[in-house]
Parts: sequence; structure tokens; C-alpha cells
Amino acid sequence: MLAAMQGEAGREWLLDDVLLACSWHDQAQVVGAGQGLAEAGLVEVSEMTKTVWSLGKEGHAANSEGLLEKRLWDWLISQPDDQRSMGALNSAGFERHETGPGIGLLKGLGVEIIAGNLVFEGDQKATDSVLSEKANFLASLVEGADEATLDAEMLAHFKGRKGLVEASESVNRKWKITSAGTAIDSTILVEAEQISDITPELLQGDSWRSGEFKPYDVNLESTTPATGKTHPMQALIERIRAIFLEMGFSEIAGDYVQTAGWNMDSLFIPQDHPAREMQDTFYLDNPSSIPIDSEHLQSWREIHEHGGETGSTGWGGKFSDEIAQKGLLRTHTTVNTIRHLAENPTEPCRVFAVGRVFRKESIDRTHLPEFHQIEGIIMEPDASLPMLVTTLKTFYAKMGYPEVRVRPAYFPYTEPSLEVEVKWRGKWLELGGAGIFRPEVTEPLGCSAPVCAWGMGLERLAMLVLGLDDIRQLYLSDLEWLRSQPIL
Ligand code: PHE
Repeated sequence: MLAAMQGEAGREWLLDDVLLACSWHDQAQVVGAGQGLAEAGLVEVSEMTKTVWSLGKEGHAANSEGLLEKRLWDWLISQPDDQRSMGALNSAGFERHETGPGIGLLKGLGVEIIAGNLVFEGDQKATDSVLSEKANFLASLVEGADEATLDAEMLAHFKGRKGLVEASESVNRKWKITSAGTAIDSTILVEAEQISDITPELLQGDSWRSGEFKPYDVNLESTTPATGKTHPMQALIERIRAIFLEMGFSEIAGDYVQTAGWNMDSLFIPQDHPAREMQDTFYLDNPSSIPIDSEHLQSWREIHEHGGETGSTGWGGKFSDEIAQKGLLRTHTTVNTIRHLAENPTEPCRVFAVGRVFRKESIDRTHLPEFHQIEGIIMEPDASLPMLVTTLKTFYAKMGYPEVRVRPAYFPYTEPSLEVEVKWRGKWLELGGAGIFRPEVTEPLGCSAPVCAWGMGLERLAMLVLGLDDIRQLYLSDLEWLRSQPIL
């Protein structure tokens, strides 16, 4: 390549020029050789990126089956005036998903809907020609067409529609010899072959033994293979599981459908607590009520009404079995741990759960009505606040967030209660709650030892790990985004 370029100092070489001059066939050879020469300071590379356009999936379909609005239009004008109803359109063989957007497109062409009929009073010829122009644009769009050569108005139109045209970037390189390149003695230049790929064929022979290997350059541009991989949320859940398992915890699980009794009453959440209202909790119509055994109801009644044997005064008022037996979608995974304790009150344990919870939240940048919590407890004779804080700090440190702080908080079921915050990009972010279960919670279950408990938002953590500023991104199934996510 250098020898060819020495012949014409000052010339700017394009890819095809080099291929021709060197009798090469593969553009990778030119790019590779050019890169090597540039690194040695013997040539200069300039790169120009431009946007090029190709047909998208819908664009190909439009070319083979006809553009949707053109098909609709052709149908319309072939119908007698009195048979241009929406009903007729629906039964004319257009697919369901086509008629909605199709009507919009027809309206754009001046078709009106009057009393369920499609009415056109404009210039039919003019519309015909607008549509042919559109169809021609797509029919003549060649793969990788330079944006500069395309009709800007047409392109703007099709860009705004889904799947018709697709943009990509095309890099054009030009090489020019430098004075250092010109100064190289041309008689010492030989074309040497370097081995760039280690293939089974290569290894079968012996030539590689004496061959020259091309140094591996991790900085070179390459394509990223689009392989299947675990969804980042699932990958994150697996990582969290691995961390808790490594810390000696066992995993527990529970059902989405629970009673208010287990979800709230067992946790000493008062029956008139605002979080229990319909606007915060999804109550079920079916089953609207789920029976709870009278033993549990009885002990919760005592605790709620006057504190039972705990020395607490309880919340007062009258405890309602009916409220306790209401069916709902669990609002936190704390219900899992409570049920675990109820079933194993005297067995010391370290358990965790990662599970979906439901709350009536309006969807926005940081809220979803369905999300996940990471929940855990430690029950053992020596369980204490420092043990709780250390456990949470260890968990977050293993996740890659060594800076953790706790602040006093309030939950009806823990005392003391904590809010856990993690430092991210210089700011403290609240990720969850924790505390030591109150006697009002543990005594009715017959727990023999103190219980450290915590619950934290998984999606919030995912936002940190993946650097997101909108929680909805996690559930959009946006392939482009999914492909670009790191393997966690
Ligand atoms: N259940 C609380 C929540 O949903 C978190 C929590 C769990 C707090 C356990 C204290 C103890 O936010």
C-alpha cells in the first residue's frame, strides 16, 4: 500500500483506489494496512461519517404489497360513492392493525369521515400523484443511499413512520501519504502476509509455524455480535441471589395473592393505616376474602386492640376479622418473611427473597405499579442493630457500592427503624427500609429470638447499576438498548 502511495504523493486515496492499486479484494485488508501505516506515522487517515438510508421491514413490505395508504386509496376510489363506509373498509380485507393508522393516513390525504362514511371531495388526480410519488420513493431507495441524494421532504415523511426506512452510519476513509512515508526507501518495501485469524484450517498445516502474526489491537473498530443474553433485570436478580447465598442466606418465596392479615395485620400495621386504602393497595374481587385461621386472628386482635402480652398498648379500637381476611396483591415482600417466621418461629434463620410486589402508583420516571423488592431477615439470639447494618453494608459493597449510610425512619413493624442510603454519583439515594421487628410482630408468632429485617427496591438498585434515569426503560423490551447493556 505504501509503495503504491509513494508513486503519487499528495493524492488522497479512497478504498477502491487502494484495492485497485494493490490488487486486493477485501476492504478489511485496506483498513488494516492503512491503520498499521497510520500508527507508524507513514500515512494520514481521515474519516468522514455520513448517514445512509435503507428500507426497513415495513418498507420492504410496502414495496412488495403496496404502500398502505395507496392500497386504501385504491380501494376507496374503486368503490361506488355509497359503499365507502367504515364498515365496508373493515371487511375489505385490510388487516386489523392496518385500518387504524390507515384512516389517519387517508385523512392526511383529505378524506373525511362523515357519519361513518369516507368522503373525498378533493382532486383525485393530485392525490394519485402524491401517492405514486411516495411509492416511487420507496421503490427506488437503494440499500445504503446517501442522505444527501434523497428527496428531503419524502425522507422526513418516511422517517416519521415506523419501520419504513432505517438510518445507519457509513464511514468513508481517505488515506494520504505523509512526508515520513515518502521518505521510506521504496526498495525495502515488500508485501508480507500476516496471520490475523487463527482458524482450524490454519492449524492443520505447518505454515503458521514460520508465519508472521498480526498483533492484536483491541482499539480497532469491530462489530458487536448480537447474541442472546440474559435480560439485565434477570441478570441482576441472579447476582443478588449469588451475593446472599454467598453470605450464608437461604432463599424463600411466596405467593402474589395474600390477605391483608398477613400482608399488614401480622406486621402491626393499624387497620386504618392510609397505605391500606384502595388507592394504594390492589384489593382483589376474586377472591375478595380468604379465610385465616382463628388462632392468628385472635392473637392479632389482642395485639392490635391492647398490645396482648407485650406490654404495648396496641392501637386501640376494634380489630376487624373481615378487613384482615380481604384478598390483595402483596404490597411488600415482608409478607414472605413473616409467613416464614410463623411457620418456623423457633428455628434461627437467615433468609432472603426477591419478589414482585404491587402498589397503586402512577407510572412515572421512578415509579411502577409492579416492581420488585429484595427482602431479608436474620433471626438468631445475637441478632442486633449493628449486625443488621453490617449485613446491609456488606451486601451493597459486594454490589459495588461501598458507601452506605443509615438514617432513622419509621415503620409500624420495626423499632428501631432505618432508612438505607447508598452514595451514587456523589448523591445519597434511598434504597430501602430496615429495622428490628417489634415485639407486637414477633410475640404472636412465638419467635424465640430478635429478628433483623429489611426490604429494598430492586428497580431502584437496577437504575444505579445500569445508570438509568427512567425506571420504565427496564420493561420496554427495547432491543437496541438491551443489546447495548453490559453483561452483569
Ligand atoms: N416493607 C418495607 C417497604 O416496603 C421495607 C421494610 C422491610 C422495612 C423490613 C423494615 C423492615 O418499604
